[in-house]
Amino acid sequence: MDGNWTRIAGTGDVGEGEAVPVEVAGLSLALFRVDGAWYCTDNVCTHAYALLTDGWLEGCLIECPLHNGQFDVRTGEGQGAPIIEDLRTYPVRVEGDAVLVALP
Ligand code: FES
Repeated sequence: MDGNWTRIAGTGDVGEGEAVPVEVAGLSLALFRVDGAWYCTDNVCTHAYALLTDGWLEGCLIECPLHNGQFDVRTGEGQGAPIIEDLRTYPVRVEGDAVLVALP
């Protein structure tokens, strides 16, 4: 499913190894740049309420600032307790200097 491709950032807006919050179309998203690749997930932790972009990105793992749960930003997969629900992910592509995400 391709969704609705929407520009959510410029490539210059996110540095290597950074996580940036993006509010778009009523969604709170997190945009990640890891080893030159781009990933997008929901920004709100599935455990309780915290923004993952306030946490710590190490490699492909984002750590929640509230209870230190971790997710793989490539797949949204929770990495064990206290996370029991995976994060939603969104397809990303880059066109020129625009970062596009396929919204539902
Ligand atoms: Fe993220 Fe609890 S709110 S681990």
